[in-house]
Amino acid sequence: MGTAIVITSGKGGTGKTALTCGLGTSLAKLGNRVLCLDLDVGLRNLDLALGMTDCALMDFTDVLFDRCSLERAAAPHPTVENLFLLTAPVTWGSIPVSQASLKRLTREIRSQFDYCLIDCPAGIGPGFHLAVCAADRAIVVVTTDTASLRDAQQVVSQLHHYHIPMQLVVNRVSRWMLRKLQFSVDDAMDAAGLPLLGIIPEDRRISLAAARGELPALHTQGVIRAWHNIADRICGKRVTIGLR
Ligand SMILES: Nc1ncnc2c1ncn2[C@@H]1O[C@H](COP(=O)(O)OP(=O)(O)O)[C@@H](O)[C@H]1O
Ligand SMILES: [Mg+2]
Repeated sequence: MGTAIVITSGKGGTGKTALTCGLGTSLAKLGNRVLCLDLDVGLRNLDLALGMTDCALMDFTDVLFDRCSLERAAAPHPTVENLFLLTAPVTWGSIPVSQASLKRLTREIRSQFDYCLIDCPAGIGPGFHLAVCAADRAIVVVTTDTASLRDAQQVVSQLHHYHIPMQLVVNRVSRWMLRKLQFSVDDAMDAAGLPLLGIIPEDRRISLAAARGELPALHTQGVIRAWHNIADRICGKRVTIGLR
């Protein structure tokens, strides 16, 4: 049975979608079957980040409401073996999606995939609770700005109700910013009250790749290494945490 991991943050723009995409790619390259599930209905963009805008014809509600099988709806990545996308609908539609039905969907996904990475919407509304209710563990993504840390505290207090393991990823870290802010990754851990799963450096080429609808390539080495390290840690390998 696979593991469902929700990638959440509270604040928009911290890098949830980028991490879902990067971690999914890294876990797939380690030989795991990975399904990236976009639950950011209305603001979905995981297909863009994965370079799969033309690939996903069916969305998760098609599977939920038996319009299509999971096998047909899960779109394989054009270049990364073992990586699949189940996208979100553009709107919620008229039939409400219950937590029970989402749990049923992720149970089916977990029976067919090693990992289901759930890209969570920003905020702590019903969409957040749908994304979290079906997860076995949570990754909270923050940046070093105060607003993101404050929102993460709200998210963590909500996540406590679900009794799942939670870990922190600090994204977009630059030594220059840390120095200027007189802020450290320890401060982020203290603010969120969570153990650290990884640190990802700031690299503007990530946004450039996303804007081009491409997976970040070799020129974004630091970020890719950070994603790989997080994937290794999720798979149980001991890898030292740090910025290079
Ligand atoms: N490590 C990084 N370095 C630089 N830019 C990043 C990094 N991670 C994400 N971004 C960029 O930040 C923006 C917001 O990221 P996104 O993943 O869409 O956030 P969210 O899903 O949390 O709203 C995007 O333009 C993305 O390319
Ligand atoms: Mg997003």
